[in-house]
Amino acid sequence: MRKEILKPCIFTRRQFLFLSSLGGMAFLSGQRNLSLAQVGTVEKMVYTAKDYSGLLGMEGFSDALLRNHFTLYQGYVTNTNKLIDTTHQMLKEGKASSPEFAELKRRFGWEFNGMRLHEYYFENLGGKGGLEKKGKLFKKISEEFGSFETWEKEFRAIGMMRGIGWTILYEDPLTGKLINFWINEHDGGHPAGCNPILILDVFEHAFMIDYGLKRADYMEAFFKNIHWKAVEKRLG
Ligand SMILES: [Fe+2]
Repeated sequence: MRKEILKPCIFTRRQFLFLSSLGGMAFLSGQRNLSLAQVGTVEKMVYTAKDYSGLLGMEGFSDALLRNHFTLYQGYVTNTNKLIDTTHQMLKEGKASSPEFAELKRRFGWEFNGMRLHEYYFENLGGKGGLEKKGKLFKKISEEFGSFETWEKEFRAIGMMRGIGWTILYEDPLTGKLINFWINEHDGGHPAGCNPILILDVFEHAFMIDYGLKRADYMEAFFKNIHWKAVEKRLG
């Protein structure tokens, strides 16, 4: 019987770029163990994943769900760094007009926003108690929407829309107006120049472990844990 010798899977840079261009970046989704060191580049850690373990034990969110979510977030940070490094290398090598470069650049907004939106999301959780009614955020929301309840009704309704994405209360710095938005995936539909105030993740990974398809119950838990002081600080 022939003895099989397993060798580590090492791709050349050319193979890596070819694979990356296939089917929407198979490398990013299925080849997470493929490091840039293996393809001949030096990885620069521009971004570092933040530690949100302080949220563990939060009422209405199991530790299993949160730990899964943290791991997913860390993947976005890793891939954001990889894309920065890889496209920088390609630029230096005169490959910026290649389709491979274009596909990596198209991917970048998705990975970067996947990282940053999760940071906003985790950082607007972990609070106790409702929004202070004498504070500027409560007053501003009430003025913009007619009442706080009207704003909340629309925010929750957007969160219940079918599909995966984000529900975000944005502030338009040019007018001071507050607007609730639905954001597809991570990179589609963000209002240019606007300031994210409150962010709700409505990808299924954010709630299905604990709530199955009961997204409304997840949103109930989300509202109980909003860190309103952190949210209010985001106002311009
Ligand atoms: Fe998420």
